[in-house]
Amino acid sequence: MRTGSGQAGDPAPAGQQAEPAISSSSATTRLVTWHGDLAGWLDRLDWLRTLSDWLTAALGPVRERHQDNLVLELLHGGRWVGHPLHPALSDLPIGLWAGVMVLDATDRDPAPRRGLDAAGMLSAAGILAAGATALTGLNDWTVSNDQDRRVGLFHGLLNTAALGLQGASLGTRVAGHRGTARALGAASLAVTAAAGYLGGHLVFTKGVMVSRVAWAIEPRRWTRALQEADLPDDSPTAVVAEGRQIMLYRHRGSLYAIDNICSHAGGLLSRGPVADLTVTCPLHGSRFALADGRVSRGPAGQPQPVLPTRIRNGWIEVRGSQPAPRQPAKGRTQP
Ligand code: FES
Repeated sequence: MRTGSGQAGDPAPAGQQAEPAISSSSATTRLVTWHGDLAGWLDRLDWLRTLSDWLTAALGPVRERHQDNLVLELLHGGRWVGHPLHPALSDLPIGLWAGVMVLDATDRDPAPRRGLDAAGMLSAAGILAAGATALTGLNDWTVSNDQDRRVGLFHGLLNTAALGLQGASLGTRVAGHRGTARALGAASLAVTAAAGYLGGHLVFTKGVMVSRVAWAIEPRRWTRALQEADLPDDSPTAVVAEGRQIMLYRHRGSLYAIDNICSHAGGLLSRGPVADLTVTCPLHGSRFALADGRVSRGPAGQPQPVLPTRIRNGWIEVRGSQPAPRQPAKGRTQP
């Protein structure tokens, strides 16, 4: 005799396997974790680690030698642009190659043609733009870290493959093999999309080239950071005030407070050298003026936040950039 109504929650009839509820939930889980899993999987590829280490060893010293080169800084975007150039430039090959697809899809003339047609011109322009984009990406890659570096390298390899496919597409197009050119162009755009996804992961998930101090506003009131007697002269000192990491520095009686987390990629400025009231980030060498946070050398493109200071009762006090809202005076109600 059957028991149960067959509705959710009823026990499975004897002799029948209950549907494993966990399988659908784990499938659902996989649907929302695959991107994190993908990044983890990439990070575990031995050959990718080896290649990343090898390139780091080869390019690191070159970068250090040319750290003051303004062209290299401009390739990051740097203080003049204020934003990284690479993501902006990457729109160009994607847009141009997508245009090639549209022209190919709407071309009703089946006759084979040699030479550079409109689609070929867009393809060639995209290849040129991809070269410039690759240059800025490689430059940014040299100032990335750890897992970001490996995922970034894979992103670059995919883009290199896409560039090769697009080059082959252009070559076959010029030679008159339009069917092959279209197939290669479509493959190139698909690989570019996969590379673009990884680029998005680096920016939106990992915050690569995103200001690390964009939300640094605390403390909202004057807050004690350190006893005045505990701050040595001419020695960067890390303190924490209401959760915000700050570097204090005193020179000839003048006191400076600057955000200790480097806006570029989170290096601790208090571990870097100070010369002429300018601190150098120990991670990738950005330089910030202690007085106003101005960038005097990239890769950082944004000024480093500085905090006002004062001394009260033997304590150095600091305050963030956004004061606490005023309290209504006693006896008065806010409108
Ligand atoms: S973390 Fe890159 S320059 Fe500071």
